[in-house]
Amino acid sequence: MTTPRRTDRSLSSSEHATLTETATAHNYAPLPVVVAEARGAWVTDVDGRRYLDCLAGYSALNFGHGHPVLLRAAREQLERVTLTSRAFYNDRLGPFARDLAALAGMERVLPMNTGAEAVETGIKVARRWGYRVKGVPADRAQIVVAAGNFHGRTTTIVSFSTDASAREGFGPFTPGFTVVPYGDADALRAALTPETVAVLLEPVQGEAGVVVPPPGYLAAVRQACTDAGVLFIADEVQSGLGRTGATFACELEGVVPDVYLLGKALGGGIVPVSAVVSTSAVLDVLTPGSHGSTFGGNPLAAAIGHAVVGLLETGEYQERAAKLGVQLRDRLDDLVGHGVQAVRTRGLWAGIDVDPALMTGRAACERLAARGVLVKDAHGQTIRLSPPLVVEPADVDRAVDALAAVLGEAAR
Ligand SMILES: Cc1ncc(COP(=O)(O)O)c(C=O)c1O
Repeated sequence: MTTPRRTDRSLSSSEHATLTETATAHNYAPLPVVVAEARGAWVTDVDGRRYLDCLAGYSALNFGHGHPVLLRAAREQLERVTLTSRAFYNDRLGPFARDLAALAGMERVLPMNTGAEAVETGIKVARRWGYRVKGVPADRAQIVVAAGNFHGRTTTIVSFSTDASAREGFGPFTPGFTVVPYGDADALRAALTPETVAVLLEPVQGEAGVVVPPPGYLAAVRQACTDAGVLFIADEVQSGLGRTGATFACELEGVVPDVYLLGKALGGGIVPVSAVVSTSAVLDVLTPGSHGSTFGGNPLAAAIGHAVVGLLETGEYQERAAKLGVQLRDRLDDLVGHGVQAVRTRGLWAGIDVDPALMTGRAACERLAARGVLVKDAHGQTIRLSPPLVVEPADVDRAVDALAAVLGEAAR
């Protein structure tokens, strides 16, 4: 007789953690919280304990867990058809692409799945555009990127990361990238050569700790790209789709890039959906067979993505992020000098540098989790706050109160 397997449901929190560490590769170091259910801005662990989710899947859950409109779109589509491949048309992709392009003020969409795939696609499009439209000699294309960037984890993308832990042991790397300091428009302009095809930037560097560039930087980058005949690719995978209080973070600086890279919240936290959104002149450099994805543009993803676009068209979430963002900033600013060295915010998104004399960012996250608030450290001393945009004002206060208590406790 074989012993029946215990169901997942009967495992304790620590058993789940041990099982996960035993059965998966160790490419993450999760906080010791085992989530079993979630709704809105709240998650519940396997022991029934509730936590305020102030990470929101790194902004993939901008609309919260289980948004009824997105769940309805997903359920309806699950019963109809989920995957066709792009070998055939499906009745969901066209309407989704049309409305996403309109939301972005662009003309065309190239659907993919993960953020990294959108970035890879953007790089391929820019190179081909450089050769076919700009006339750059074959295999000479250069793309200018910023130090401190985070664009994903593929071999090509880590090739231009400046984070040693993202690169170590993964060479040889893809050539064709020039790194300049983030926030320095003169350095960027000076790096553009006749072989430069694109500048690829995050309008706010999320993983670096919500690093907001100086006012006027994005506009100066836009101008430099226009002057040099170079594509400005804005990676809005994390900053886009409402997080900053605008549909796109570029909007806050009055800037329109040539290409948007979108992901995360585009899938409503339900399925991975990403997209490259641009003009026909740019995306038409791709021809059948030159690029693709089995899952990109599948009807389930398109139905959910379309519902996400519908939510954003109301403007309600952007407005909420802007309003709650002011509350978050005001409350966090009061902590500067009280265990916090610096705070950077953009909408409902904050990078908080914890005083190293008190604790590391990781320790702050662990102590916040013990108080029922989930956040994630970015680099060393920085913690990042990005609650779902549906969070209640009282819960924004609750998160900041918990942080103040954690810091106050350590200072005693
Ligand atoms: C700006 C940016 N680009 C790209 C990515 C990669 O997205 P994914 O993890 O879906 O590949 C991320 C992920 O954090 C990101 O923040």
